[in-house]
Amino acid sequence: MTKTIRFRLNGKPTTIETDAERTLLWVLRGELGLTGTKFGCGEGICGSCTVVIDGLAVRSCSVPVASVDGREVTTIEGLGHDGALHPLQTAFVEHGGFQCGYCTPGMIMSAYALLRANPKLSREAIVKGMEDNLCRCGAHQRIIAAIEDVAGGKRGAS
Ligand code: FES
Ligand code: FES
Repeated sequence: MTKTIRFRLNGKPTTIETDAERTLLWVLRGELGLTGTKFGCGEGICGSCTVVIDGLAVRSCSVPVASVDGREVTTIEGLGHDGALHPLQTAFVEHGGFQCGYCTPGMIMSAYALLRANPKLSREAIVKGMEDNLCRCGAHQRIIAAIEDVAGGKRGAS
């Protein structure tokens, strides 16, 4: 059923009319042109489609778009400001926290939510918090090192 959905997307008021049962992932990618959020498994397992809704990491392949009505959604396109990368993005680049890059937006959005909840996370907490985001290229250790860098205060976590 077509429904009007109003929410904030990357800080901007957004209104769409769409099938309320469509997943958030496909509305972001197909209707709003935000292709940074990736389709991986489509079953809530890999984490490549992770976005942040009201501060929490959510798998956008597994929620209907209607569920974000009235809420705040942040995607990878919403990080970084005025042409500057977000500190997590910079740390990923510096640590080589990717190979093909397919998992990277979901990794960064999961890490972003973790650090919003606790900017001084321990390595153990980072490892635990990121264990459900999968990287098929074997970059996971470098990804953890990049997040640790930000959590350790070498860069701001804003
Ligand atoms: S595509 Fe959503 S969790 Fe894999
Ligand atoms: S960098 Fe290729 S899947 Fe993680």
